[in-house]
Amino acid sequence: QLWLRYDPVEEEALRADYISQIQNFNVPGEGATFDLIREELGLGLEKMLLSEIAESQTEEASLLVVLSDHTRVSRSDISKETLSSLGEEGYLIRSNEQNQILLTANTPLGLYYGTFHFLRRLQTRQSINDLDIVSVPKVETRMLNHWDNLDRTSERGYAGFAIWDWHRLPDYLDPIYAEYARANASLGINATVPINVNSNALILTPMYLEKVKALADVFRPYGIKMYLTARFSAPVQIGGLKTADPLDPAVANWWKEKVDEIYEYVPDFGGFLVKANSEGQPGPHDYGRNHADGANMMAKALAPHGGKVIWRAFVYSEENPEDRHKQANDQFVPLDGQFEDNVLIQVKNGAIDFQPREPFHPLFGAMNKTNLAMEFQITQEYLGQATQLVFMGPYYKECLDSDTGIKNKNSLVSDVIDGSAYQQKHTLMAGVANIGTDRNWTGHLFGQSNWYAFGRLAWDPDISAQQIADEWVKMTFGADKKVEETIKSIMMESREAAVNYMTPLGLHHLMATGHHYGPGPWVSNLGRPEWNPVYYHRADKEGIGFDRTESGSNAIGQYNKSVAKRFSSLKTCPEKYLLWFHHVSWDYQMQSGNILWDELALRYQQGVNQVRDFKSQWATLEGKVDDGRFEHVRMLLNIQEKEAIWWKDSSLLYFQTFSERAFPDGIEKPK
Ligand code: GCU
Repeated sequence: QLWLRYDPVEEEALRADYISQIQNFNVPGEGATFDLIREELGLGLEKMLLSEIAESQTEEASLLVVLSDHTRVSRSDISKETLSSLGEEGYLIRSNEQNQILLTANTPLGLYYGTFHFLRRLQTRQSINDLDIVSVPKVETRMLNHWDNLDRTSERGYAGFAIWDWHRLPDYLDPIYAEYARANASLGINATVPINVNSNALILTPMYLEKVKALADVFRPYGIKMYLTARFSAPVQIGGLKTADPLDPAVANWWKEKVDEIYEYVPDFGGFLVKANSEGQPGPHDYGRNHADGANMMAKALAPHGGKVIWRAFVYSEENPEDRHKQANDQFVPLDGQFEDNVLIQVKNGAIDFQPREPFHPLFGAMNKTNLAMEFQITQEYLGQATQLVFMGPYYKECLDSDTGIKNKNSLVSDVIDGSAYQQKHTLMAGVANIGTDRNWTGHLFGQSNWYAFGRLAWDPDISAQQIADEWVKMTFGADKKVEETIKSIMMESREAAVNYMTPLGLHHLMATGHHYGPGPWVSNLGRPEWNPVYYHRADKEGIGFDRTESGSNAIGQYNKSVAKRFSSLKTCPEKYLLWFHHVSWDYQMQSGNILWDELALRYQQGVNQVRDFKSQWATLEGKVDDGRFEHVRMLLNIQEKEAIWWKDSSLLYFQTFSERAFPDGIEKPK
């Protein structure tokens, strides 16, 4: 049920107040999305208010949900400008003088989104008096990327198998598809890519396109657009061509015909997501061409249909192992301004790879003539996977709220992403999904909060993590104050705890190889230098950390001046990024007064202590949270504690072989 449990409003007075204001509702309108709106309102109101709220046929109903061309709206004092500012997906909810709640939008989808907003107010027990709400998404495409394979395994999914049952599609439509679409719509997510970025060209063959069509048909009323990953070598693999060179007319023509064919199956197809020349995937470099050549060739095929190319900036190759951090900027910045209008460059939040903490990616401040998009990871590849409780709201916000240093009044990463920095033509935020066949969808119950947080921030990157946690907890666990405060306090601290016991003070990529679960900072024998954790921490007798200043790789030079200046100086570099940018001596004096070695050890210990604290806080909820969910989280927190100790002990014992210093007071002796 996710966050759509619609638990009854506990407080009788509040429930009575809601009922007095929503005696009935009227949703005039025909079509699948209107049916969904009526269904959702009926369900949500009845469950929360414990009484059936009648559907009325008159426009006098106490809750009226109507398109903006309805006479009630045109006769109201809502201005034409306000209505047109709602665009295709925004909505307005207003209490009018007739004591009526009016929800309006320009499209059925806008009304559907507004319906979820209205229900959320009740779910979070807020007042519905004097409503005056206008909400318009700040980001155009709000998308999930599933790293799911055709055989239902998932590259970095930890919640069972992929929900896409390709074998039984197109004739068998598992109800989970509609449930998935509804959950996404409740957050405003409007696009999905059900296929791994390490793509299989078979998805573009007619046999699979029929299945894709069946899914797209289910998703359509929910406003979810279908995109597919496109394997760059598809013209060779499934097209019988000898080359996939993007400048070869036969190749361009193959893609054009393929795209035309896809639109016959899915007339509102969104476009392609492409991983090219990264981690062994094929791409334009294989033919001596650049990313713009590749992306533009596909973009031209999609443009007549209104489709887009989402080209990923997650590129690194062994040709240039000096500092993987620099490769995306090196390859993409020179191409700024060369991409077609319908190309977006999808950039991971940081330059390495979804680490527990990364400074924002320098590309966000370096390309002002290109549609730049955000890629976050919802699945916790490097954050304890589905075993650990880590609320990602603060993680996403840390990146979105970073100042890129561009000379502009809107200079935050979020301003680049929502288009306010450069008025880029298209905007997009993508999240690598954590959804699978597990009964609770996400493996760890709290994984649901990360799906939720991603969706809410994709709609509005300016909402605070605190607000998101607040909403999610109330919608998931009800509005008991004690339960709410306890869970929120655990959530808001959880990411910091994970950073402490895994990679404090700017350390990164120390996870065990391949699966990325658990510690492996000692690993040094892998085929490519940048696959080895030792490449990232660079510990030696003198100290630890990756020198990315001018005396080192100078990756810092890829940030705008003001940012580079701040990160370069030991005095101004935030300590949370210290070892990301600097190689620092073990005796370096930290702000706390401790030397670096002691501080590092204390951070690891603090991470363990924080998890213990989560355990005791959770224990106080026994009997207040239903047994199933209580036990689920209790057992997982036990594992998380063990793993936090595992991280601390093994990391400290390993780093001690370099520092050759004793542990400071307060450190539990590693076993
Ligand atoms: C990480 C991840 C891979 C994934 C890649 C990507 O490296 O471990 O599984 O394919 O990111 O984002 O493409």
